Amino acid sequence: MKGIGIFGATGSIGKSALDILKRHKSRFRPVVLTCKKNISELLKFAEEFKVPYLVVETEEHARRLKDQLSYSARVLWGDEGLKECAMLEEVDTLVVGISGIKGIIPAYYGLKTGKRVAIANKESIIAGGKFLKLAQEEGKGFLIPVDSEHSSIFQLLEGRQHEVLEIILTASGGPFYKLPLEKFDEITPEQAIAHPNWKMGAKISVDSATLMNKGFEVIEACFLFNMPPEKVKVVIHPQSLVHGIVKMKDGSYFFHMSYPDMRLPIAYALFYPERPSDIGVKEVDLVEIGKLIFEAPDLKKFPCLKLAYEVIKKGGIYPLILEAGDEVVVDAFLSRKISFKEIPEYLQKLIENFKPVKCELESIEELLSLHKEVVNFTWNLIERSRN
Ligand SMILES: NC(=O)c1ccc[n+]([C@@H]2O[C@H](COP(=O)([O-])OP(=O)(O)OC[C@H]3O[C@@H](n4cnc5c(N)ncnc54)[C@H](OP(=O)(O)O)[C@@H]3O)[C@@H](O)[C@H]2O)c1
Repeated sequence: MKGIGIFGATGSIGKSALDILKRHKSRFRPVVLTCKKNISELLKFAEEFKVPYLVVETEEHARRLKDQLSYSARVLWGDEGLKECAMLEEVDTLVVGISGIKGIIPAYYGLKTGKRVAIANKESIIAGGKFLKLAQEEGKGFLIPVDSEHSSIFQLLEGRQHEVLEIILTASGGPFYKLPLEKFDEITPEQAIAHPNWKMGAKISVDSATLMNKGFEVIEACFLFNMPPEKVKVVIHPQSLVHGIVKMKDGSYFFHMSYPDMRLPIAYALFYPERPSDIGVKEVDLVEIGKLIFEAPDLKKFPCLKLAYEVIKKGGIYPLILEAGDEVVVDAFLSRKISFKEIPEYLQKLIENFKPVKCELESIEELLSLHKEVVNFTWNLIERSRN
């Protein structure tokens, strides 16, 4: 019986992970559940599994949660709570489904204490991949991707890394792929979060609509698979059936295909190296699908993808700057302070104008502090242009 910590249990990834745990109760037991402030949802899951450790954002949330629990559990809060629970002896595997940079805390401390870390949180890889690698080396932990494209590539590469020429990530293109650029001014937050194929949190849905998400995934792939950016390509595949493609030295292509359902990569990461059955994912009907469609991405309409390649080339803290800035511009778009079209414009301005005091980061505390600095800088950039 393995002890599982679900960090971000109330989110889209967290709920999919809980569904896998429910189906495999004899194999896995949730020992940690966390959320930011959605304590009513956390309470529901905590009661169902009688989870012994719970983490929320503030002491006040912790007090409110504790008052409502019908059994005895330790309720912790904040960064320290995430850190402590990531390192618990009872935790064998962490599923990191927190959105935002705070995901780096459980991922880093989990790896440092030798755990398996099933990582969905892309922000921590983009902004702090170097620290995750160091923690993994130090603690002999195991980082396994949950992002569907990276899970696919991970599965396709097993034992074949030396034969690979290119990695190809697929992108659905999001809800506006066919929309003419002239109409981008009219895009609303409601339209942007309505992803055609995947059900996800609001932030990642907007990132999918701008293709920033695919740009982030390129950065992630370079880090996870040790590939130079020129060997990581993107194709538009509106059906979201093929999630990752690997091109081999002899010109063969290996595809990984399934209906879009995050339970598949989550279960793969939990069971690895075993391949599980009974995870609730619908089987692909090849005849019903008939054709697979692939197109080149339109970088004029979706310049965010280009920005990602630019920051990889710049290296150092630039991926962090792009990631932190994107958190702000998406927030600003969702609260109707900026338009959809302005998202890449502000990100470009940020990359050109942000001058960090320090370019080499030595700890995740420094990383979190720089992240905050970039967030403030980007909000100022937006406020100044609006006044
Ligand atoms: N959803 C997908 O299909 C998918 C696919 C690939 C990768 N990812 C990545 O997985 C991560 C989660 O995505 P999601 O779609 O599941 O997001 P989501 O539905 O918005 O859920 C986010 C989770 O993180 C918690 N959280 C948010 N901010 C936090 C903070 N500052 N401190 C502690 N906990 C915090 C939330 O708690 P509250 O509920 O209390 O706010 C919630 O449990 C993201 O990095 C995303 O890019 C997601």
